[in-house]
Parts: sequence; structure tokens; C-alpha cells
Amino acid sequence: MSLPNTITVDGPAGSGKTSVSFAVAQRIGYLFVDTGAFYRAMTFLALEKRLNLSDQQQVTALALHTHLDMTPDLADDGRQYTLLADGRDITPHIHTPTVDAHVSTVAAMPGARDALLDVQRSIGKRGQVIMVGRDISTVVMPDADLKIYIDASLNERATRRYHQRLETGDAADLGEIRAGLEQRDTLDSQRKVSPLQQASDAVYLDTSAMTLQQAIDAMHQLILDWTPNG
Ligand code: DC
Repeated sequence: MSLPNTITVDGPAGSGKTSVSFAVAQRIGYLFVDTGAFYRAMTFLALEKRLNLSDQQQVTALALHTHLDMTPDLADDGRQYTLLADGRDITPHIHTPTVDAHVSTVAAMPGARDALLDVQRSIGKRGQVIMVGRDISTVVMPDADLKIYIDASLNERATRRYHQRLETGDAADLGEIRAGLEQRDTLDSQRKVSPLQQASDAVYLDTSAMTLQQAIDAMHQLILDWTPNG
């Protein structure tokens, strides 16, 4: 039985695509690549350098001159990956509320997106990879062997995020989380460059009524059912 060598997963924020894909990658021994981390890394670095985030040229230049890479967990602290920027581990800095608030602006910049294409494609070429994002099936790896679009209703996604926050001991407000997700959905799917959309040849997986374990099993099954000729 052969497995698809390259698997792409797209979907909206909070759909579970990252947790599900990470678990499946571990099951089948594939490299897991969360491309949202690259946009988050650029956002963190731009804020750290106090760049004006509405200045596309500055942010694009930074993206062109920074070498990003993603490796499996180097810190052994249970994280899903380590994100390196010019060799520096910035993983702990890319999921902060400040980065959350600004990342859609950076992700909407054509120059920054272009600068990040090469690194994503070269990692994809390593093969045995599950790459997750918004435009992976449509733009980054349109020739991937298996493309999956993971979705869930807005209410379900907000509820999941709410419980995640409570589990990590952070303050959480369900209404606020829901509004934040809705705003990011709009920004990500209505932007001009590489908007979030389902590729015409992607398999649609709605996890609204599934537990995490059921969603992992469902995605794993799609991989097992895959045949080279479609
Ligand atoms: O998946 P995430 O929440 O970590 O993504 C962070 C941001 O990056 C979000 O605004 C969508 C954007 N993104 C993107 O535009 N293209 C990708 N391939 C991955 C993420």
C-alpha cells in the first residue's frame, strides 16, 4: 500500500486542521509543517524591529532577508515544531495575542507571501510531508498528491478555542473569541492574494460534530483510502 507523498491541508482558523494534521503526521511518520507559523514569525520579527506594519516594502524586505525553517520539536517540551529565524528559536513568541492581532495584515501582503513561497515549496519537496495553511492546495503545492479542506462551524470553532484557552489557564470570553475568528475568516478569505478557498480537487472534511480523536481517525482514513490515480 502506498501513501500520498505530499498531503496539503487548508481550512479556517480554529477548524482543528493543525491539531488533527499534527496527530496524523505523527501516526504515519511524516513531517508536519504549519505554514501559519511562517506568517506569525514574520509578524513577530517585524514588531520586534518596530517596523511600520502598513509599510509593505519594509516587511517584504525583512521577509526576503530572513531565513526561516521549521524542524520537528527541538526543545522536547511537547510543542508541535520549532520555528527558526536565522537559526534563532522564536517558537515561544509567535502565538501571542499581539501576533494574533497583526498576522492577518502581514499575511495579506503580496511581497511577504511571495518571499515565503520558496521556503514552503522547498520544505514540501522533501516529501513525506503534511503541510497545513490557507493556500497550500491552491498556490503553494497545487500538485500535491492528496488535498484536504478541514472545516467546522463558527460556533464550534469558537467553543474549541474557548476551552483551549481555559485549559492553558488564560482568561477567555466566548463572544470575543467568536468575533475574533469571524474577523479573521473575513480577512483571510476576502483578501486579494491567495485567499482561503477550497481547491476544486480537495476532499472536504467537516469536523463540527467530531471529537478530536474522530477527526484524526477520519483524516487518517482519507490517507489510507488514497490511490495514486485518484
Ligand atoms: O493558521 P494560523 O492561525 O497560525 O495562521 C496565521 C495567519 O496566517 C492567518 O491570518 C492566516 C495566515 N496564513 C495564510 O495566509 N496562509 C497560510 N498558508 C497560512 C496562514
